[in-house]
Amino acid sequence: MKNSVATFRRQKEQGDKITMLTCYDYSMAKLMDEAGINSLLVGDSLGMVMLGYPDTLSVTMEDMIHHTKAVARGAVDALVVGDMPFMSYQVSAAQAVENAGRIVKEGGAQAVKLEGGSGVAEQISAITRASIPVMAHIGLTPQSINVFGGFKVQGTSEDAARELVRDARAVEEAGAFAVVLEAIPASVAKLITESLHIPTIGIGAGRYCDGQVLVYQDMLNLFGDMKPSFVKTFADAGSVIKEAFASYIGETKSGAFPAEEHSFAADPGVGLATEARD
Ligand code: KIV
Repeated sequence: MKNSVATFRRQKEQGDKITMLTCYDYSMAKLMDEAGINSLLVGDSLGMVMLGYPDTLSVTMEDMIHHTKAVARGAVDALVVGDMPFMSYQVSAAQAVENAGRIVKEGGAQAVKLEGGSGVAEQISAITRASIPVMAHIGLTPQSINVFGGFKVQGTSEDAARELVRDARAVEEAGAFAVVLEAIPASVAKLITESLHIPTIGIGAGRYCDGQVLVYQDMLNLFGDMKPSFVKTFADAGSVIKEAFASYIGETKSGAFPAEEHSFAADPGVGLATEARD
């Protein structure tokens, strides 16, 4: 059954943890969907893990739509959430509605995500009024790394924690259907989760959130440039894949590949010896 914002709401009410992974292409979307994931986030993290940028700031609307289309084609049951890239919603509510509309209409997502708290409440209200569900994202919001001075844990002081709680309430009031809490203390995430009606999805925010999200390259050890300390490696697929590449190179050079079973045969009786000599 297709997951929806109603599924998220029901899962929070029933204490059934929401599962989400980032996804950027068709074949991975199919694998995750078949495994039973609730939701796929086409995150602007694709700028780092798929495109090789040092951060998410260069990601464009075209990048997001291109990858969202591929994921949407592979997601049968999972709710597809498309991220709004840097500067695609900050300018005005009208700009935010227009770009959210493109992610849904052209990309095929069922919802969008944007970063920020009370400062983007107007955008969240406007997009929601246009009948597009919005997932908010507070805490370590990577589009603000130049303000934070890097990828740093947020909400550790009393004042910062209080501001996070205010931001969480503001995005809920503005109409967000869920909120991502990234890299904040587990105790603060617990307080926010208990004080909101909408589900919280944690990443580096401890066990008390209503759901969890991870960048799939991180949990499969596929991306070595940076590994946040909160990530658990669920499978060392990076090493398995590297070994497979090395075997392919070795067997191709030695002639062990391709073998008989990887080759085609001509019809019986066909002899091309003369042509081969010419
Ligand atoms: O872009 C992304 O992948 C995200 C997740 C880390 C939540 O925003």
